[in-house]
Amino acid sequence: MKAIRFDRFGGPEELKPVDLPDPEPGPDEVLIEVHAVSVVPGDWKLRKGLLTAMFPVRPPKVPGRDGAGIVRAMGADVTGFAVGDRVCFTCQHVDQGSYAQLAARPAADVVPAPDGLGFIECAAIMHAGVCAWIAAVETAGVKAGDRVLVQGAAGAIGGMAVQLCKHLGAEVSGTCSERNRDHVAALGCDRIIPYDKVAFETAVSDQDVAIDLVGGDVHTRSYGVLRPGGMLVWLIADKFEDRSAGLDIEVRQAAIVDNPGILKAVVDLASAGRLRPLVSRVLPLDRAAEAHRILEAGENSRGRLVLETQRFAA
Ligand SMILES: NC(=O)c1ccc[n+]([C@@H]2O[C@H](COP(=O)([O-])OP(=O)(O)OC[C@H]3O[C@@H](n4cnc5c(N)ncnc54)[C@H](OP(=O)(O)O)[C@@H]3O)[C@@H](O)[C@H]2O)c1
Repeated sequence: MKAIRFDRFGGPEELKPVDLPDPEPGPDEVLIEVHAVSVVPGDWKLRKGLLTAMFPVRPPKVPGRDGAGIVRAMGADVTGFAVGDRVCFTCQHVDQGSYAQLAARPAADVVPAPDGLGFIECAAIMHAGVCAWIAAVETAGVKAGDRVLVQGAAGAIGGMAVQLCKHLGAEVSGTCSERNRDHVAALGCDRIIPYDKVAFETAVSDQDVAIDLVGGDVHTRSYGVLRPGGMLVWLIADKFEDRSAGLDIEVRQAAIVDNPGILKAVVDLASAGRLRPLVSRVLPLDRAAEAHRILEAGENSRGRLVLETQRFAA
């Protein structure tokens, strides 16, 4: 099979097309013909060697956190799947990843793909939707009537968080660049705050929850727009200094751990039309290096960049 691999940490040019033996599914594994995978910020950070303290990864490494495709074979102990099923799956950063034409994954990491969504849409929804769910539902416990600020609403996770919080009945404000105002409004966001025009502190206050997908200075400034007893939920983004000591603000990390139950909940919401997949761009598998360059330069916006894994020009 064709795959993309880096053999040492470094720049996007380290991502090289390789021919690898087709994987054999173990007794509890499903062999999937992969059609689409999402490219997430963690992929380039890992390739650059920035995440080794958190994920003990050593090259050679095939990147990729998720994928969507068709079941081609199964191990003897697998139940609940059949050859030909359309499925979505996740991979851990520490596993061999999904930038490949075939993947053998434990059945526990595989869920049925919803009817009505293509593989590209499935890939766009998975990691971003799971991260948004863990931030909004598991960590913040957002409920109807809450006032929620999403910092980074035009990003892949931010777009899912806006839709999810609206679905939960919250009043949602979101920060994005002015050029993305219409995009974020179309997700149902009640108040759009263009961070390149105004300081968000002048536009919003007394929030129950802020979901911080940006970090750095944005993280620190977010304390000021929360009500007493409010909650600031963060994902690992730009480094920030924790200045919450002595403030009546609860600061919690959204710990992103793959969970098939959450993946299924996200996929079901998409299937019901409650979460719209957001695809920023689609590239063939052998342009993975270009995809990483785009993300690393901060040029990706309005959803997930997706690689089509069966398209391989080289
Ligand atoms: N384990 C973890 O903790 C974990 C897991 C997943 C992701 N993450 C992190 O979460 C972050 C978001 O991920 P993602 O996949 O959604 O990234 P993404 O799709 O690349 O989105 C980044 C977005 O950030 C927005 N942005 C940049 N500066 C901003 C500012 N000052 N105020 C408001 N928005 C701003 C940009 O909006 P415009 O386009 O409008 O400029 C862009 O759309 C990344 O840093 C990623 O590494 C952490």
